Amino acid sequence: MLTRTIYASALLSAFAAAAPAPQVAGYTDADFPASVSEPTGQPATVFGPDSQVPAIPTAPGSAPPRRSSDVTGATSHGPYSGTPTTTGAVMANTTLAKTIPALPPNPTATYYNKDGVLLHPAPIPYTPNGGLGTNGTEPRYMVNSDFDFESIALGLYQEWIELDLFNNGLAVFSDEDFLAEGLTAEDRSYIAFMAIQETGHATLLSNMLGEAAPPQCTYNYPFRTVREFIDFNQKLTRFGESGVWGFINHLDSREVGQLLAQSIATEARQQMSFRQMLGLHPMPVWFETGIPQSWAWTYLAPYISECPAGTTRLAWQNFPALHFVNQPNPNRFSPNDTQPNEVVGNRTSDPSDSTIPADESCVNVTAVGYGCGPAIAHNRSEPLSFPGKQINLTWENPGLPVGPNNSYITATGAGQPQFVAWVSQLNLTYTPLTLTGDNEGFTYQPASEVYQGDPAVNGTMFVALTDSDLFLTPFNLSMINPHVVALGLYQAG
Ligand SMILES: *[C@@H]1O[C@H](CO)[C@@H](O)[C@H](O)[C@H]1NC(C)=O
Ligand SMILES: *[C@@H]1O[C@H](CO)[C@@H](O)[C@H](O)[C@H]1NC(C)=O
Ligand SMILES: *[C@@H]1O[C@H](CO)[C@@H](O)[C@H](O)[C@H]1NC(C)=O
Ligand SMILES: *[C@@H]1O[C@H](CO)[C@@H](O)[C@H](O)[C@H]1NC(C)=O
Ligand SMILES: *[C@@H]1O[C@H](CO)[C@@H](O)[C@H](O)[C@H]1NC(C)=O
Ligand SMILES: *[C@@H]1O[C@H](CO)[C@@H](O)[C@H](O)[C@H]1NC(C)=O
Ligand SMILES: *[C@@H]1O[C@H](CO)[C@@H](O)[C@H](O)[C@H]1NC(C)=O
Ligand SMILES: *[C@@H]1O[C@H](CO)[C@@H](O)[C@H](O)[C@H]1NC(C)=O
Ligand SMILES: *[C@@H]1O[C@H](CO)[C@@H](O)[C@H](O)[C@H]1NC(C)=O
Ligand SMILES: *[C@@H]1O[C@H](CO)[C@@H](O)[C@H](O)[C@H]1NC(C)=O
Ligand SMILES: *[C@@H]1O[C@H](CO)[C@@H](O)[C@H](O)[C@H]1NC(C)=O
Repeated sequence: MLTRTIYASALLSAFAAAAPAPQVAGYTDADFPASVSEPTGQPATVFGPDSQVPAIPTAPGSAPPRRSSDVTGATSHGPYSGTPTTTGAVMANTTLAKTIPALPPNPTATYYNKDGVLLHPAPIPYTPNGGLGTNGTEPRYMVNSDFDFESIALGLYQEWIELDLFNNGLAVFSDEDFLAEGLTAEDRSYIAFMAIQETGHATLLSNMLGEAAPPQCTYNYPFRTVREFIDFNQKLTRFGESGVWGFINHLDSREVGQLLAQSIATEARQQMSFRQMLGLHPMPVWFETGIPQSWAWTYLAPYISECPAGTTRLAWQNFPALHFVNQPNPNRFSPNDTQPNEVVGNRTSDPSDSTIPADESCVNVTAVGYGCGPAIAHNRSEPLSFPGKQINLTWENPGLPVGPNNSYITATGAGQPQFVAWVSQLNLTYTPLTLTGDNEGFTYQPASEVYQGDPAVNGTMFVALTDSDLFLTPFNLSMINPHVVALGLYQAG
């Protein structure tokens, strides 16, 4: 302690003299305050004993048990080969219409406060009028409608696969495999910790559903290498996170929304961490987008091979798969050189091929702007994708079995495909589709911005083929569903 203080004060004047000029253009009044300086000298090599600080003995108390233990034990993986005993999404006995008609704004949605003063009596001091769940009613942390139930059940299917997936990658790849991709034993521990987080999320969601909460299933993964595992994780957590943003503010139960937000904040961090492990920019957008439940289910279902007998089924739609022939490969320093269909399989979230030749890979490249090894952030001198890029598309016909026990069937209620819908950040942008054959065509990546200076299309984002260019915004995006022909996941940045 003492030595460090002396070092610091001895060098203070030298640092004050070297105070940097403002580093951000146009930013004045930015002189570094000269009263402190960074420590210098040798870093520690001996650790402890530490100072003894006042403390009392404690125990963790009596937290409720988790629904799944830390490690799920022996697991089996792979495709399902049996015959389903039931097929199709779960349906209500009565379905009232095919589409939801558009209505004018809610007549009570009129509040506008031009003066910024309080307009209504306050219930108690320091507490402005309004809000939901603020009048003293006791919170009930349970789903409160079929909509809530199906949304949280979908979320639970997602948490379960994450628990298995993160553990599976750690189980099938060795420490050496991870090290070859620049990921250390500490990074492996971090992924293991993320898996354990999922046991908590799965327990929370199970509790909010009750006894019909779906259990963990058996999965079928697409990856063959550590890079592909990480790539798959950043894709899977992207649609997991965005799936929740899409429905959370539509839930009947605000209480459920509260706890769900607190778990999805963690999932958002997982998504960003996996991007960093893949050497992608951690968050090349200003806003994370929300997608409808049927989209999240479409992305997730192909990776679930079978579920135990009696597993609660879901009501959401499975759309046909949309493929990007020239999906940019994040393992390349020159993404323009990506070959057609350079992905490991034909499921929409399958990772890009990481087994490209070493002299085309960015993994071990150290040149700034070209490397894509694990890092807090990388610049990409050659972007993965860019506005105006021709994007070639192929898509499947509906009617294919998918999901647990191959017991769901892809379906669309849309007519002929005419538009490509890009869902990213706060925006839905349509570009025209040019057909070039049966189930194939192309479009060009749009240049639309959210606000000036923030290109809407970036990151791991969502693209649908539609039969209309219906105007929709984040809170009514699910009205797109009757118009979706096929659905894909695009690696724009
Ligand atoms: C729906 O129909 C099934 C079969 O006819 C019946 O068993 C069930 O009770 C019905 N459910 C409701 C909520 O009406
Ligand atoms: C969706 O919401 C926007 C307002 O944000 C509205 O202009 C649009 O008409 C709505 N779309 C439909 C199909 O209701
Ligand atoms: C309290 O607010 C809830 C909505 O958050 C409402 O349903 C309920 O009727 C209110 N209760 C009272 C006593 O005003
Ligand atoms: C799925 O298939 C497995 C293996 O055949 C079977 O044990 C299980 O009961 C099936 N699950 C459902 C929900 O039918
Ligand atoms: C997807 O790939 C699998 C395995 O290669 C193959 O069996 C299946 O027919 C393909 N599906 C489609 C729709 O192309
Ligand atoms: C990167 O280097 C490691 C050895 O340090 C090697 O095992 C790995 O195969 C290399 N990856 C590529 C894509 O060249
Ligand atoms: C990284 O990219 C930013 C934005 O394009 C650029 O301003 C900066 O100079 C780049 N940094 C390096 C080290 O290349
Ligand atoms: C990638 O292709 C675009 C469009 O042809 C071109 O403008 C860009 O320069 C290419 N990138 C590189 C690094 O050559
Ligand atoms: C996506 O974001 C990255 C990081 O800010 C940037 O370098 C790239 O140019 C962006 N791509 C597009 C299409 O704007
Ligand atoms: C995309 O489609 C166009 C038009 O059919 C074709 O000329 C082009 O070669 C295709 N590009 C790729 C990468 O498949
Ligand atoms: C993108 O979303 C923002 C925020 O809702 C909106 O103001 C803007 O008009 C949208 N831009 C486009 C191109 O749709």
